[in-house]
Amino acid sequence: MAKSYAQYICQDCGYTNPRFLGRCPNCGNWDTLVEEQIEKSSLSSTGSFSRFNATSVPRSIQDIHSDEENRIHLKHEEFSRVLGGGIVPGSINLIGGDPGIGKSTLLLQIALELAESARVLYVSGEESEQQIKMRADRLHRNQDGTQRSLPENLYLVTETNLEAIFDHTGKIKPGLLIVDSIQTSYLPQLESSAGSVSQVRESASHLREYAKRTGTSIFLIGHVTKEGMIAGPRVLEHIVDTVLYLEGDHHQAYRLLRSVKNRYGATAEVGVFEMQEGGLIEISNPSEAFLAERMVNAPGSAIVVTMEGTRPILVEIQGLTNPTTFGNPRRTPNGIEFNRLLLITAVLTRRAGISLTEQDVFVNVVGGLKISEPAADLAVAAAIASSEKDIPVKADTVLIGEIGLSGELRMASRMSDRLGEAAKLGFKTAVIPSRLRSGGISWPKDLNVVEVRSLHQALEEALIKK
Ligand code: TYD
Ligand code: MG
Repeated sequence: MAKSYAQYICQDCGYTNPRFLGRCPNCGNWDTLVEEQIEKSSLSSTGSFSRFNATSVPRSIQDIHSDEENRIHLKHEEFSRVLGGGIVPGSINLIGGDPGIGKSTLLLQIALELAESARVLYVSGEESEQQIKMRADRLHRNQDGTQRSLPENLYLVTETNLEAIFDHTGKIKPGLLIVDSIQTSYLPQLESSAGSVSQVRESASHLREYAKRTGTSIFLIGHVTKEGMIAGPRVLEHIVDTVLYLEGDHHQAYRLLRSVKNRYGATAEVGVFEMQEGGLIEISNPSEAFLAERMVNAPGSAIVVTMEGTRPILVEIQGLTNPTTFGNPRRTPNGIEFNRLLLITAVLTRRAGISLTEQDVFVNVVGGLKISEPAADLAVAAAIASSEKDIPVKADTVLIGEIGLSGELRMASRMSDRLGEAAKLGFKTAVIPSRLRSGGISWPKDLNVVEVRSLHQALEEALIKK
């Protein structure tokens, strides 16, 4: 007999406690503990280990075939790459992201592609079959824009009850199962409501068990809370094999697909997409895309090479200074951190002779990218200085480096990758911090690498001389 009892679970970190607490002792957040009914099946009546017959069989490591050989390769190369080289049969994968960012769109595109060669079941708890079909019509087009016939092996169903879902998978036997979303599916045996921590955890565990038993690959879509975590939280990340996040600015077309956990490949892989009329289009050369609308020789613009995972990407940073009309000067960053901007403006004022104490300062990272690494400091400073002096940064120059409080510059990671990417895109000069040790690394030959010690020197090198 199963009996149930109440327990309190933190919605942010999954911490459980038998009593209610106002503040979670684990993650320190307030008002996050919610009551949940926990099912407890009574212990096995044998009560002893001795008579247990295991169904699992230990095998020699030589006899075990890796899933690597069986990976399903996709024409969606960026997606494949982020997964580590294709979909692993029997893997369970989670895609998280803000509502409306394009998770359903991306997986429907993958479903349409895979359904050419295997059965695919797309289970939605959020949209009707008609809605999904209308979207599929829009996504599945030929190069010239004409409609392609939809694959008959793609099955759609609107369902949230996991028992019903398993009933369908039993009949259809899909090679790929998509569950949109894990927060809407539920197990009827549990008393707690769909989306609660225990429902999400139990549903995911059952799906995982199904994936491993049948070799079906599963993609779960997960919603993200306002703090940016997948709701129903870390527990889910432990259950699945890979965790991907789809990110981007809602007002911009670019989307980044990032792997944060991958049992079958490298993490920190990033794929770049653009949301267009016909769905998410892969951007195989993101640097070119991010620089496409750049105005060359305009003051207030500088180029940085930032690392997204293992990938160097060239991005334009814009700065604008304008006299403060009243009160305190404003600092408005878009795409970099506020505190970083405060530091950079302070160092520009105190160490580089560019007074910003009565100037509003705006900074914008073009394309909606968010840069958190300090390697972008130098380009941000150059964009601001260029606007304030009304002198453009040299058009063929990139700037990379972290700024310290005394105006000194610090090296960034993976400098040769960054410089290589700049050279590939036709940039001629790179202004970077000088090296203390060369470490045997040489910079690309076709790039004029200018190593400088201070912010002041860097600006002298980067700005056009009047
Ligand atoms: P969706 O995949 O529904 O987001 P999620 O599942 O992450 O909530 O994406 C919704 C947005 O994408 C919506 O604002 C419309 C836009 N979109 C396009 O711009 N082009 C398209 O071809 C499709 C299908 C959606
Ligand atoms: Mg959706």
